[in-house]
Amino acid sequence: MTDAIVVEGLVKRYAATTALDGVDLTVAEGSVLGLLGPNGAGKTTVVRILTTLLLADAGRAEVMGLDVVRDADAVRASIGLTGQYAAVDEYLTGFENLEMVGRLYHLPRAEARQRAGELLERFDLVDAAGRPAKTYSGGMRRRLDIAASLINRPRVLFLDEPTTGLDPRSRLAMWEFIAELSDGGTTILLTTQYLEEADRLADRMVVIDRGTVIARGTGDDLKAQVGGQRLEFTLARAVDLAEATRRLRPLAVDEPRSDEQSRRLSLPVRGGTEVLAEALRLLEGSGVEILDVGLRRPDLDDVFLTLTGHATEDAAAADADTTTTGREPAPTAGSAR
Ligand SMILES: Nc1ncnc2c1ncn2[C@@H]1O[C@H](COP(=O)(O)OP(=O)(O)OP(=O)(O)O)[C@@H](O)[C@H]1O
Ligand SMILES: [Mg+2]
Repeated sequence: MTDAIVVEGLVKRYAATTALDGVDLTVAEGSVLGLLGPNGAGKTTVVRILTTLLLADAGRAEVMGLDVVRDADAVRASIGLTGQYAAVDEYLTGFENLEMVGRLYHLPRAEARQRAGELLERFDLVDAAGRPAKTYSGGMRRRLDIAASLINRPRVLFLDEPTTGLDPRSRLAMWEFIAELSDGGTTILLTTQYLEEADRLADRMVVIDRGTVIARGTGDDLKAQVGGQRLEFTLARAVDLAEATRRLRPLAVDEPRSDEQSRRLSLPVRGGTEVLAEALRLLEGSGVEILDVGLRRPDLDDVFLTLTGHATEDAAAADADTTTTGREPAPTAGSAR
């Protein structure tokens, strides 16, 4: 299998910020790579360099065997890009937006119009095709933007957070669509904050943090790094966390994690439901009031938390839905790093 994307030693600095500090990655032709990382990790910077919009300070990158600096024009002709922020023209209609992009790709007018029609259909925008894009909802813009990136039938597609801001139904539709494109042989590099999204779509994942690759592999590889099951408690009172941790510690195969804000305690454990029964026995007579308890297999959110020391924005926001600080990383009391 050949690589559709090759990145070696990519470095990018902005004054005092080192956005990329030597990133290496490859994407096999026809596969999907999920590029994951917290806010500011450098994901968009990688995408911008690969799509010829930004020059790296060091390192090199190739797309379909073409150098992104020397062969920039040829690279542009063979790729599609949906940026993190929708790039549609507000005053043109949906149809006109797509036709214009087709013309920018030098498609003859008739072909551009035909392609625009096909894509509007595909993205469920036929009814809105004649309306100016400024009347579109956020999700509709996002779909129009992605449609535009497909106008030239790119062999390599870059999607920077393709489903951010989409409602659950639109997100599912987008996932199906991305899977279809991939089945059709398109190579895809997608960045995402939604780990479920990467888990579903990506063949392989690269996790970056502060401009450095901190993990790579399949979803299963990454989950294996985090280890086995976890016993998770939600307590009625945060003050009980210490006592519960003390009593349950003998069951933990690694450092327990507790979070005051969500009153949650999480213990890496081995074994099946008997460990759950044992845990409840250990807490008997302690006065610790349990609201919820369960045995959970690790998901990519756990991977993320373990690798980066902070949750994704998504998970943090979900955890902190009773507070006003949803954008802050979830606190990881007692975390090893
Ligand atoms: N034009 C710029 N000038 C200065 N600093 C920049 C610029 N663009 C990006 N950076 C910095 O480079 C780092 C990487 O940014 P980048 O946009 O690649 O992150 P990201 O992983 O895409 O984050 P997000 O998940 O928030 O989209 C950040 O620290 C950011 O502040
Ligand atoms: Mg970004």
